[in-house]
Amino acid sequence: MSQDPKRYTITAALPYTNGPVHIGHLAGVYVPADIYARFQRLQGKDVAFVCGSDEHGVPITIKAKKEGITPQQVVDKYHAIIKKSFEDFGITFDNYSRTSAKVHHDTASDFFKKLYNDGKFIEEVTEQLYDAEANQFLADRFIVGTCPKCGFEESYGDQCENCGTSHNATDLINPKSAISGNTPELKETKHWFLPLDQYESWLKEWIVKGHKKDWKTNVYGQCKSWIDDGLRPRAVTRDLDWGIPVPIDGAEGKVLYVWFDAPIGYISATKEWAEREGKDWEPYWKNEDTKLLHFIGKDNIVFHCIIFPSMLKADGSYILPNNVPANEFLNLEGNKISTSKNWAVWLHEYLDDFPNQQDVLRYALTANAPETKDNDFTWADFQARNNNELVAIFGNFINRVVVLTHKYYDGVVPEASEFSEIDTQTLNELQAYPAVISSSIERYRFREAQAELMNVARLGNKYLADEEPWKTIKTDEARTKTVMYVALQIASALAVLSEPFLPFTSEKLKKALQITKGSLEWNDVSTKKELLASGHTIAKGELLFSKIEDEQIQKQLDKLEQSKQDNAMANKKAEPQKDTIQFDDFTKLDMRVGTIIEAEKMPKAKKLLVLKVDTGIDVRTIVSGIAESFTAEEIIGKQVTVLVNLAPRALRGVESEGMILMTEAPDGKLVFVNPDTDGVTNGATIN
Ligand code: MF3
Ligand code: ZN
Repeated sequence: MSQDPKRYTITAALPYTNGPVHIGHLAGVYVPADIYARFQRLQGKDVAFVCGSDEHGVPITIKAKKEGITPQQVVDKYHAIIKKSFEDFGITFDNYSRTSAKVHHDTASDFFKKLYNDGKFIEEVTEQLYDAEANQFLADRFIVGTCPKCGFEESYGDQCENCGTSHNATDLINPKSAISGNTPELKETKHWFLPLDQYESWLKEWIVKGHKKDWKTNVYGQCKSWIDDGLRPRAVTRDLDWGIPVPIDGAEGKVLYVWFDAPIGYISATKEWAEREGKDWEPYWKNEDTKLLHFIGKDNIVFHCIIFPSMLKADGSYILPNNVPANEFLNLEGNKISTSKNWAVWLHEYLDDFPNQQDVLRYALTANAPETKDNDFTWADFQARNNNELVAIFGNFINRVVVLTHKYYDGVVPEASEFSEIDTQTLNELQAYPAVISSSIERYRFREAQAELMNVARLGNKYLADEEPWKTIKTDEARTKTVMYVALQIASALAVLSEPFLPFTSEKLKKALQITKGSLEWNDVSTKKELLASGHTIAKGELLFSKIEDEQIQKQLDKLEQSKQDNAMANKKAEPQKDTIQFDDFTKLDMRVGTIIEAEKMPKAKKLLVLKVDTGIDVRTIVSGIAESFTAEEIIGKQVTVLVNLAPRALRGVESEGMILMTEAPDGKLVFVNPDTDGVTNGATIN
């Protein structure tokens, strides 16, 4: 492809519709993709930025089962939440489609049929894993076992989440059904396989020997390793009842493998968009002068670099991706983000909790983007990025410029007289930024690009701090005007250059500076002598950023703590029931209500408290292993349940004459089994 592509087809991984979108998705895929798409549009490029909901696949059916609703209800619910949250967050998809749409069913079916008719598949009856109890073939996430490549014990049937390798379910060592936990049987069934082995040398040529050295090291390295290991045919159909029916005779009850249909969703989404816009979709997928890019997370690499390209190649009429800028993972407060464990910051919740603060999250996620390695999101970092960078650097600069312009000149951009050396140097430096930022974005280095944007604000702050217009205003009117003029040029540059990263801020800033739509372009910053003319009137504008307080952060941390506890609770499996006893056995237990009247720590014993308990019969000593859950002071006066006829036992030389009934809370803390004994006197029997 020539250096300057005619158009851009930018895809962002279709999110699975089994839950809402969280910050891991945003940092890994959607924020960088949106920065890139916005940036290319600002360059006047022809862009199709497409995405949509991935509504097939096993995760959806598992979620449906869990919630007791149909898969269609699951995808309807989450598609609506996801679509709206993307819009509210300012992700500028040209089309956000869904794989249950008719256009997609048609496109994916036609794609399959063409490959089928061209003899690109192997049709074969093979033995596949089957759960006799659930009466179901086990594919993909319905099966868990040990990864044959890396030894990870919880690999799925189609892909190992640990090493990213894709494999056949029958390759798993020690497979277990995720439905019943049973070891599956083998049962014969017919499927259609894409013979990846036949594409191996072509892939090698394209990726390894080709120009793909400019792919990110993580992406290139993984691809090379899989190709070097040798590729094998992969089934592209499944025995499932949720998905796109295999569109040929003799395939009843079978659907397309979700990873066969989903990437075709990019094509369907483009078609749907083109139709709406009155355009032709084909150049976006078939012309060599189109730059096709897939923004994804690292777990999607094999599908976007090996399998989907092989499908496109098998068809023969499509272009191939120019790059696949995959990111690593974002963790949250030190732990892996997990939808099922509710360990996440959900986008739709963020938007509720931090109204009109989309850019703060965009900024924090880009500043911390997992571009070359896994990274950690913490609320403390989020707060610091806002307070110390957005507020203190960017916001502060703009605020000073706007306030001073109003104070000194009633909001009118003053006339500059002679530029000092510092002025010229500052303006020259400013002119260099568009190219610097562009170069980083073109190489998919969004953190670096955003850091350069902040350097523009720093340049402005330093300039004001050095030139001190608030001092010169008393002595040198002409100089002050020149300084404010220069500062206003920097502010205008920020309004334009911030757009890909901080679109809401850019919008507010343009409004404040009264920069009308289309009047100032990205490249003007490096070519125009004047971005904001003398005599132009600016508005007051609203504050761009505001401080985030500790209480807001604490609220978020509390939410996560709650998830942790809920999980601990859910994970606690009840022990199986003990052997049956007779009524007589039960009546042998003498349990009474008693009150703890004294308590002290047993010396040199971490866990033990020595208690004196009034049992109504007597006051006796009981040694109890609860010192890690209670202090001695806090339990004095507590009414508890005591087993009084337990044979006495010496603990560390102290005779213990009974046992207090306890249980364990989810966090591991012991609690008294203390039925509602209000007004019950000590010695009352329990039966
Ligand atoms: N749903 C997949 C995931 O979240 C991504 C699908 S990308 C596509 O991991 F290429 F299949 F569309
Ligand atoms: Zn593995």
